[in-house]
Amino acid sequence: MTYTLGWDDGVVVAIDQRVLPHELRWLRLATVEEVIEAITTLAVRGAPAIGLAGAFGVALSAHLHADPAVVRADAERLAKARPTAVNLAWGVRRALGRLDQGAPAVLAEASMMLAEDEATNRTAARLAAGLVLSLTPDRPLRVLTHCNTGRLATAAWGTALGTISDLAGRGLIEEVLVDETRPLLQGARLTAWELAEQGIPHRLLVDSAAAAAMSLGQVDVVLVGADRITARGDVANKIGTYGLAVSAARHRIPFIVVAPESTVDNTLAHGSEIVVEERAAAEVTSFGGTPVAPAGVAVFNPAFDVTPAELVSAVVTERRVWRPNHGAELARRITEALGE
Ligand code: MRU
Repeated sequence: MTYTLGWDDGVVVAIDQRVLPHELRWLRLATVEEVIEAITTLAVRGAPAIGLAGAFGVALSAHLHADPAVVRADAERLAKARPTAVNLAWGVRRALGRLDQGAPAVLAEASMMLAEDEATNRTAARLAAGLVLSLTPDRPLRVLTHCNTGRLATAAWGTALGTISDLAGRGLIEEVLVDETRPLLQGARLTAWELAEQGIPHRLLVDSAAAAAMSLGQVDVVLVGADRITARGDVANKIGTYGLAVSAARHRIPFIVVAPESTVDNTLAHGSEIVVEERAAAEVTSFGGTPVAPAGVAVFNPAFDVTPAELVSAVVTERRVWRPNHGAELARRITEALGE
């Protein structure tokens, strides 16, 4: 199968991202409950991938239940499995929109979304690659990325990592610096695995080394994905992204977000309105199953943070290069007000 998730003979199938890089295992999810559990435990993760899992979850429910009320109730639970990535509710809603035409139509919609997601990623990645090349004179490029935004996080190809693949395919990547991405190590476990799969040179670093790498002149551009983007361009993404944006601004390094239009939530004006998922303390208090903190310690474990638009050089989608440059706008208004 070319996609990282999909449908096979009456069940939802997906790569189990929890066991990578040690094992490439496929899950066969036969109930909506199992799909929800796969999403909440991050067996399936990444905003576009959970949107697709939500859509296939609705298709599964429609396949199993003749009563539309049951399917609608399942859809509601699927949409709430994780709160931050807007793609999940979007995917569920889109599949549910075909319910009146019967279960095969719901499945056809979910399957179409897979193909669309790959095409969307390839278009956005090509656009983002062009932007990167126009913003930095350095060749070949040293790119820093965070979390996993590759084929595992999408139907195929990926967003920020898809951009890196695009550039690498043209011989334009010297090295990718991969943040390990505490606490669940999506960078170490998944991004490093994908880069090795493609033969793209990379080095793994702890998240707290990213600012040092920038200060040492080892980074030409930062490329990340997104889970939700507000109307003004504030970006929710994996915890640690905001710190990267602050450091990138300090070192005048372009900070570029690559995401599908389905990640843009125009119902939210400001980043402070985004619901940020908080996850279990155990993710922080143990490492690889071994406790590393005193028992019972209080924990702050947000899965995401919000980077204000002012720190984002550009958001690139399949349709546009969007530069929500509120910083420059603010400076212009201050200059005008001062009559300078
Ligand atoms: O908690 P996760 O692993 O689902 O978080 C994923 C991210 O933050 C990704 O950067 C984002 O979903 C974009 S994936 C193309």
